[in-house]
Amino acid sequence: MLRRRARWLLMFGALLLAVSSSGSAQTPAPGETRVYATMLQLMRGVLYPASNVIFTAQADDPASFKPALRPSTSSDPFTSAYGGWEAVENAGLALSEEANLLIIPRQCGNGRPAPVKNADWLLWVQELREAGMAAYTAGQVKDADRILEAAGAVADACLHCHQKYRNVPGGMAARCQ
Ligand code: HEC
Repeated sequence: MLRRRARWLLMFGALLLAVSSSGSAQTPAPGETRVYATMLQLMRGVLYPASNVIFTAQADDPASFKPALRPSTSSDPFTSAYGGWEAVENAGLALSEEANLLIIPRQCGNGRPAPVKNADWLLWVQELREAGMAAYTAGQVKDADRILEAAGAVADACLHCHQKYRNVPGGMAARCQ
């Protein structure tokens, strides 16, 4: 009896949640852009994985990766259906595209608005765009020296912005100002 009531409550709760999260105030109109992630989530979920492909290519020859047993579902870009140097090309393109996400107004993890209009922020976003395209080109021509240089440029872009807006005394609460 108790069990049945618990199940009923659970179902009712799920229904309430579905109804409240489909409210019109939260649903963007088709064609409208909408922000879903904080700057912190964007960094962890989007920039970090793409840049790791570029950083790996500095040390390990992209051509040396064997395709995974099932390349089409491999979670490692290097061993996926678009693996090897193509993974480098794609990660370079991803970083340059992701630069666009860094200038869309959103909050940082601490609730402060990210300083996306500041001149120095924009400069470092631009640095990231260019570094991403340098990595893309290095992937296209499969050139180890060029990927080394491009990876350095990517790391510099990350570092420059982090020095001012992330790695600050006062920790998380003091970021993004
Ligand atoms: C234009 C500025 C800017 C650039 C460029 C940038 N970041 Fe960030 N990054 C930030 C800020 C600001 C934070 C702190 C965000 C927060 O706490 O909300 C951050 C946080 C992070 C974090 C999360 C750290 C934590 O506390 O868990 C990671 C990971 C990260 N960045 C990776 C990168 C990488 C990799 C690059 C380069 C490919 C990069 N970022 C480029 C501004 C930048």
